[in-house]
Amino acid sequence: MTSCKFGKSLVACLLNVSEARNKSNIERIAKAALFNSCGQEHPDTSVLNVFSNYDYNRSVLTIVSTTEQIGTAVVSSCVEGFSCIDHSQHDGVHPCLGAIDLVPIYPLSGVTLEQCGQIARGVAEELVKQVPGSRMFLFGYADVPERRSLADKRRSLGWFRQNLDVNAIKADVGMIPSKNYGITGVGASPYVMNCNITLDSQDLSSGKAIAAAIRERTGGLKGVQAMAFPNKGLVEIACNVESFTDITEGISGEKDDKFVSYKICGDTFSYISPRHIEAKVQYLAASRGIKTVGTALVGFTPQKCRLTAEYAISHGINEFWKRRQGAFM
Ligand SMILES: *[C@@H]1O[C@H](CO)[C@@H](O)[C@H](O)[C@H]1NC(C)=O
Ligand SMILES: *[C@@H]1O[C@H](CO)[C@@H](O)[C@H](O)[C@H]1NC(C)=O
Ligand SMILES: *[C@@H]1O[C@H](CO)[C@@H](O)[C@H](O)[C@H]1NC(C)=O
Repeated sequence: MTSCKFGKSLVACLLNVSEARNKSNIERIAKAALFNSCGQEHPDTSVLNVFSNYDYNRSVLTIVSTTEQIGTAVVSSCVEGFSCIDHSQHDGVHPCLGAIDLVPIYPLSGVTLEQCGQIARGVAEELVKQVPGSRMFLFGYADVPERRSLADKRRSLGWFRQNLDVNAIKADVGMIPSKNYGITGVGASPYVMNCNITLDSQDLSSGKAIAAAIRERTGGLKGVQAMAFPNKGLVEIACNVESFTDITEGISGEKDDKFVSYKICGDTFSYISPRHIEAKVQYLAASRGIKTVGTALVGFTPQKCRLTAEYAISHGINEFWKRRQGAFM
């Protein structure tokens, strides 16, 4: 297969930071992934995408690198983020627990989930050393031996609760809480894609009902987590679309467009196609007399992320995100 042809094993980190409104801070955090504090370039590393959501006051940076380099790149980005984002000042409609909210490590090629888990644990340990007061909870393949999912970990920490006391949460790594940093989720799992579907309605309760109907935990679609948010005067169903390795339903590639599959060095991963999710939401919305406005993929599919990473790294384009601005999200 083509997965290992590139010759370097690649991983992605979709770094979620609790800031979107101050552009220069986002720029600094992205730059820090590419250069160390002495201005030396981190080799084989690129920031493919930066997506900022103003209402959420949250940005997602797609950082890609080799298995050897990704830890350094991500730590340096996080250190910068902790220095310029104050979680105690946070204001935004999206729930978050930390200044750096989420550090998920995903395999792209030639690397196992176990290795990604080790990388993630390394990042957590290095961060608490470099940023005293930062604290981490671990999820997925970094959460040994239980490997609890991010959703399970978040639920057990009370992520969805209003007025949650972040300092009272028990961390897996790091001791002394700092209200400026909050708590950061660090982990590894198969790639998680983000897509969102906008309803032509201001009715948040309909949005919440539709989100519940497509969410895996409440009997919806496999690998899908969904929440409804008000955004720009309308309601948006924001979905996390997980890749999974255990295939319970027949997956037949092009014929059945419900699932999309890809391989990483022999292992098959699958996810529910965003078109299928969109069709399901359209159907549920129509039964409430609501139309959808559109569906947006935030960032990349896992396959596109790998191909873009290979392209950017082999061409030495470390600020790939700047080329994408305006053209994509
Ligand atoms: C969803 O997509 C729209 C564009 O259609 C964008 O403005 C919005 O910020 C996105 N929301 C999320 C959750 O990323
Ligand atoms: C962004 O944050 C920096 C501090 O990190 C501050 O100096 C600057 O004034 C802020 N910019 C805006 C537009 O708020
Ligand atoms: C966005 O959130 C950051 C901290 O997460 C906060 O410092 C900043 O003030 C917020 N921006 C606005 C305009 O509320």
